Amino acid sequence: MSFWTKNDYAEGTAAKHFFFSAIVMLVIGTLLAIITSFRLAWPDIMPNDIPWLHFGRVRPVHVHFVIFGWIFMAFAGAMCYITPALCKTKLWSERLGVWNCWAWNVGMVVVFITLINGLTTGREYQDLIWPVDIYVLLFILLPLAVNVWMTMLNRRTEGLYVTLWFFGAAALFIILTYFIGAIPDFFPVTGLSEAYMTWWHAHNVLGLWITPVSAAIAYYIIPKISGNTLYSHKIGHLHFWSIVAFYSTPGAHHLMGAPIPEWLKSFASVSGVLIMIPALAFVVNMLMTMKDKWWMFTRNISLQWALTGVLFAIPLNIQGAFQQTRTLNWYIHGTHWIVAHAHLALLGFSTFIEIGAIYYGLPKLLKRKLYSTKLARIHFWMTAIGFLGFWISLTGGGLVQGAAKVYEIPYIESVIATHPYMVGRAIFGLLIIFAQPLFLYNMVMTARKGERVEDDAPALQPAPATA
Ligand code: HEM
Repeated sequence: MSFWTKNDYAEGTAAKHFFFSAIVMLVIGTLLAIITSFRLAWPDIMPNDIPWLHFGRVRPVHVHFVIFGWIFMAFAGAMCYITPALCKTKLWSERLGVWNCWAWNVGMVVVFITLINGLTTGREYQDLIWPVDIYVLLFILLPLAVNVWMTMLNRRTEGLYVTLWFFGAAALFIILTYFIGAIPDFFPVTGLSEAYMTWWHAHNVLGLWITPVSAAIAYYIIPKISGNTLYSHKIGHLHFWSIVAFYSTPGAHHLMGAPIPEWLKSFASVSGVLIMIPALAFVVNMLMTMKDKWWMFTRNISLQWALTGVLFAIPLNIQGAFQQTRTLNWYIHGTHWIVAHAHLALLGFSTFIEIGAIYYGLPKLLKRKLYSTKLARIHFWMTAIGFLGFWISLTGGGLVQGAAKVYEIPYIESVIATHPYMVGRAIFGLLIIFAQPLFLYNMVMTARKGERVEDDAPALQPAPATA
C-alpha cells in the first residue's frame, strides 16, 4: 500500500472536509459583499481612509471567496463523494483529499492577505500574484484531479456515467485553463494579447469548469433523488461534446469593444450563440428526467435547490447567447446588466445546484438526518427571493446605464439614476447574506445532533445506470 492510499481516514472524510470548508467560504464570501454592495449604494457609508474597506480591495476578495472558496470547494466535495459512488469503489486517497482540503484553506488565507493588501496582477479572475498562482496549480487543482482520475481508473464498473465524463475532463480543463491564464505572470505578454489571454482564461473557468461540473452534479443527484433514470444518455453525450466544441472559443466576446481583430470578434460571437446547443441539451435532459416526479419538487429540499438551479440555466443561456451579438453587446457592455448575468450564472445556476448537492450528500456522509428541514426551507426562500430581487434590480440598473450610453447622457447622471437600483441590490442582497449562516448552523447541528441513521457506506450505494 502506497503512502497515499493508507487507510488512516474513514471513507467520506475528504468530502466532509470539503463540504464544510465550502460552506464557511460561502458565509465569508457573501458577508464581504455587504461592504461592496453598500459601497455602491452609499459610497460614504464607511470610512474612506481605511484602504482595506475600499471597494477595489474588497471586490476581488469577495469574488475569490465565492468562486475559488465556495464553488470550487463544493465541487471538490461533490467529486470526492460522487466519483467513488459512481465507480462503485473507494476514493483513491482520502489522505490526499484531506491534505488537499487543508492546502486549499491555507491558500484561501493567502488569497485574502494578498488581495486585501492590494497585491494583485490586475487581471480580473487571474488576480493572484506569483507564486500564489503556482501554489494554486500544484497544491490545489492538481491533487484534486489526480484523486478523481485515479478513482476512475480503479473503478469497478464498465462504462462511465455521464457525470464522470464531465468530472474527468473538467479536472484537466481547469488545470490547462489556469496554467494558460497565468502565462503573463512569467512571460512578457502585454497589451491586447494579455487582455485576450485574461478573458480566454476567465471565460473558460466558467465554460470548461464551473458550467460542466455544476451540470455533472445535477446529472447525478436529480436521477438519484427522483428515482428516475436519466432521460437520455445520448443527449448527455451531445451536451458533453458540444461543450468541448463550442465553449472554449468565445473568450473574445468579453472584448467586443476592444481593438482586437474583427474576425476574432465575429468568430466569438457565432460560436458563443452555438453554446445554446449544450445548454438546451442539459436543461431538456434534466427536466425530462423529472417526468411524473414533479410533485417531489416542493417536498424534497435537495431537489428543490438543484432544480431551481437548472431552471435558472434557461434565462442564463438565453441572455448569454444574445448579449454577445454585436448590437446587444454594445448596449449592455460595462453596465450592471453584466454583473446581474454573472450572478445568475454563479449564484442562480451553479450555487443552487451545489447547495442541493450538499443537502443531499452531507447528511449521508455524516450518517445523520438533516437537523432541520424547516431551517433549510427558510434558507431556500431567503436565498431565492433575495436573488430574484437582486437580479431584477441590477438588470434594470444595467438597462438604464445602457440607455444613458445611447443618448450620450453625462455618466454622472446615469450614476444618480441607478442609485435606487443599487439600494435594491444591497437590500435584497442582505436576504441572501443572512441566509447562509443558517445553512452553516443547520449543517453543524446535523453533524452534532442530527438523528443517527444506519446506512450503507455512502460511496458504495448503487449509482444511476452507467452509459
Ligand atoms: C454565491 C454567491 C455569489 C457569487 C458566486 C458571486 C459572484 C460574483 C462575481 C463573479 C462578481 C464579479 C462580477 C463581474 O465582474 O461582472 C461579483 C461581484 C459583486 N458581487 Fe457577488 N457573488 C455572490 C453573492 C453576492 C451577494 C449576496 C451580494 C450582495 C449584495 C453580492 C454583491 C456583489 C457586488 C456588489 C459585486 C461588485 C459588482 C460591481 O463591480 O459592479 N454578491 N460577485
